[in-house]
Amino acid sequence: MEAVGVVGLGTMGAGIAEVFARAGLNVIGVEVDDAALERGRANLTASTDKAVRKGKLSDAERDEIVGRVSFTVERGDLADVDLVVEAVPEIMEWKRELFADLDRICKPSAVLATNTSSLSVTAIAATTSRPSQVVGMHFFNPAPIMGLVEVVRTVLTGDGVAEGVADLARRLDKTPVIVGDRAGFVVNRLLLGYLNHACVLLESGVATRDDIDTAMTKGAGLPMGPFTLLDLIGLDTSYEVINVLFGESRDRRHAPAPLLRELVSAGLLGRKAGHGFYGPDEEIVHDHGPKLATTSVCVIAPDDALVNELDAKGFKAVHADPADLSGVDADLVLAVSDRPVVEHAVRLSHPERLVGVHLAGPVAEVASTAVTSPEAARAARDLMRILKRTPIACKDRAEFVVNALLYPYLNDAVRMLDSGYASAEDIDTAMRLGCGYPAGPFETLDAIGPAAVRDGLRALYAEYREPAFNPAPLLDQFVTANLGFYESPPAAAKAG
Ligand code: CAA
Repeated sequence: MEAVGVVGLGTMGAGIAEVFARAGLNVIGVEVDDAALERGRANLTASTDKAVRKGKLSDAERDEIVGRVSFTVERGDLADVDLVVEAVPEIMEWKRELFADLDRICKPSAVLATNTSSLSVTAIAATTSRPSQVVGMHFFNPAPIMGLVEVVRTVLTGDGVAEGVADLARRLDKTPVIVGDRAGFVVNRLLLGYLNHACVLLESGVATRDDIDTAMTKGAGLPMGPFTLLDLIGLDTSYEVINVLFGESRDRRHAPAPLLRELVSAGLLGRKAGHGFYGPDEEIVHDHGPKLATTSVCVIAPDDALVNELDAKGFKAVHADPADLSGVDADLVLAVSDRPVVEHAVRLSHPERLVGVHLAGPVAEVASTAVTSPEAARAARDLMRILKRTPIACKDRAEFVVNALLYPYLNDAVRMLDSGYASAEDIDTAMRLGCGYPAGPFETLDAIGPAAVRDGLRALYAEYREPAFNPAPLLDQFVTANLGFYESPPAAAKAG
């Protein structure tokens, strides 16, 4: 394969054209009119210029890459290419019309691929006279950087076609995962449910935009927080994908958050529109330096770890047994817990002084109950900063922020595995390379421990009664059998 076509040169299309050109292929980029073509050219130039600035390309390499891409408004110029990748907006009517046209124009041996993130590849294939040569070739934003391509095979795809496209993806230095035609494939089905859930938490005031983003980058180690990522993907695209997921799953977790619809209706589509959850050049506001007035601190915790940390910083910290809070009389009471703490508050003579603390790596989730005073919450956050932890202000809700977002995503991954759609290895590879996650969901499950995740999900279910938070039956089975997703024998068998 030497020549490919890319139709639609928006963010994704221009990125895909760049990926092909980097691998030495000649690319014909097609747009609807001259203005769109110029925008496509500008997208390609901006991305390759950035690569030069980052030291990833020399000036000469950049010129060579850009030189391999020709630009046209004539679809007829695609007559001799071996593959076309379509990257036009997610509107089925546009795709159908385009594929019917490409079917007429392209030589019979050419493969027609769609970069759709949400629409049915089967329905697109069915509009052509060559459905056996139509596949999904789904790249991730930013296409030149993210290492994954989902190759979507339909029931109509011919033998060897998806494998051929997977080989091409390897030539592009990407890792392919071949999957069937289900809404969202692997990555979007797991990712968008989580992003939508983050919108629901924001909308219900569990934490702020900046705190949720910081919690997920610093506390869960993800490369971007959910709102920064939504802005990158585009709120309109995200909304469409979530809507399509809902159409197939009828799962309330996939009912688009009203906030998302509102922002899309207002034209706040994210980075490409200059404004989404974040405004232009707006950055996460990091909290100002600590100015703590509190002197005495009481810590309700299963151990002395936090008391010792506070002592070392010169605070008068005492430990209280959760079973007996009668004598507690401190300016600030910290209840270290991974569950809501309001039941401790109601047993204190000053319930407004109690704040929940949940430590998640370098992050400290600082939870206010319905009766916590703003002063106490502020003092607890200051204290965490003095202890060199990043405080995340949140409400006293099951699993607070990090685990409330992480555990349902892990549960979704287990359900996907159980459905036979993809293997644990493929799901892990897809999330690591498609989203830059430090680990895939099954690696994460093994690291946290399936039992802890199952218990967290039970707590979430008990609080929100959301059916999708109910632990997946397969997760329950792994816990009961004392199995990790990647090792074999149960601990008991190993011991024997
Ligand atoms: N060309 C080549 N390389 C580039 C580049 C370019 N234009 N721009 C940046 N890079 C390189 C950098 O040199 C750097 O490389 P090293 O790690 O080797 O140094 C790397 O890419 C990261 O770049 P930066 O340091 O500038 O940027 P960053 O640290 O802020 O990371 C990011 C940016 C890679 C996008 C990272 O934040 C990330 O992985 N985010 C997650 C993105 C994601 O989830 N995408 C999937 C969205 S879902 C989707 O797209 C599917 C859909 O259908 C909706």
